[in-house]
Amino acid sequence: MTLDEIKALDSKYYMNTFGERTPLSFTEGHGIELTAEDGRVYRDFFAGIAVNCLGYGHERLTRELCDQISKVIHTSSVFYVEGQAKLAQVIVENSCADRVFFCNSGAEANEGAIKLAKKYFVMRGEENRREFVTLKNSFHGRTLATVAATGQEKYQKPYKPLLEKFVHVEINDIDGLKASVNPNTAAIMLELIQGESGVHPLSKEFVDEAVKICRKTGCLLIVDEIQTGIGRCGELFAHNYYGIEPDIFTMAKGLGGGVPVGGFAAKQKIADAFVPGDHGTTFGGNPLAMRAGCVVMDELLNNGVIDNARRVGAYFTDKLNGLADGCGKIAEVRGAGLMIGVEFNSDIAKAAGAAMRDKGYIVGVIGARVFRIVPPLILKESDVDGFVSALGEVLAEL
Ligand SMILES: Cc1ncc(COP(=O)(O)O)c(C=O)c1O
Repeated sequence: MTLDEIKALDSKYYMNTFGERTPLSFTEGHGIELTAEDGRVYRDFFAGIAVNCLGYGHERLTRELCDQISKVIHTSSVFYVEGQAKLAQVIVENSCADRVFFCNSGAEANEGAIKLAKKYFVMRGEENRREFVTLKNSFHGRTLATVAATGQEKYQKPYKPLLEKFVHVEINDIDGLKASVNPNTAAIMLELIQGESGVHPLSKEFVDEAVKICRKTGCLLIVDEIQTGIGRCGELFAHNYYGIEPDIFTMAKGLGGGVPVGGFAAKQKIADAFVPGDHGTTFGGNPLAMRAGCVVMDELLNNGVIDNARRVGAYFTDKLNGLADGCGKIAEVRGAGLMIGVEFNSDIAKAAGAAMRDKGYIVGVIGARVFRIVPPLILKESDVDGFVSALGEVLAEL
């Protein structure tokens, strides 16, 4: 179908929650390149919103998924699933967690983490601990509890009153954080680098203070690693980058390399709060999703993909800082690994994003001034050179 035909069908039948979409539709991809329906090829620095960590058409992922599809896609967790046990083992052996649960998306993972924290305090006889502290401009998902967790009024407004009590504190405001935690607080939930609102890293001091408050008051620390995790920041998880150990952390996006997989992981004494019947899922942890997760984790940990994200990410940030020094149009470059925000010093992000597209580059645009750069983690230095030189030309022309 042509783009116009797809658009006509979409506008007639699909619920309009996305508004005017970027006028592209892709038919296939290889490495970091995506081919549109008109045959034009684009280099993708967005990766389906920080999802496709191994890029497109990854030889091993494709082969193993085809093999799994030909055997069995879904059986349900009424039965044992080999891949579930294996993927849980890999995550536990490479993190501070002792137990894992798999679901299908980021919001579902956060929803599960919130339920687990509540159940933990019920189990301890502290039913009063029902409140959560999160940060302004955070993003935690679109279910009702995760919309309440999200510190952005625009996502909450149509659904008020929201069910759970979430208090939102300014990013890096240590006094505000201290003032918000009280004996009814179940958990502080943090996105260590806020992605959706513009790639804003929390300060190390603030994160360390959050850990201290949790240890002192007994509330739990939940880290939302849905965007920052699975190698994105040049470490397996961003909490490794910050040198902290959360009580519960959540993951999704990169975990399935494009196949929907979410999950949350917890320390043993917290995971013990869930007893049979407390939580569940039909699709979560199915053989296909787990096969994808196992391949992704093996490629990340044993085939140099995390090291690549760290090295190429540092190279990218250096190059962008070099461009910023020369062009006078970039206010700040921030982030970690291959999660990079470029803030312009005027409202040019949308125009710059469109001009980059004309040059064959896909990039995320946030608000009026920010580029969110979250490419596949297999990116090479030569890809970075091409992107930065195209951006230099775009900024000179604007
Ligand atoms: C930090 C964070 N948490 C949660 C979510 C929600 O994930 P999903 O869209 O898979 O439900 C997102 C999605 O962008 C995210 O970036």
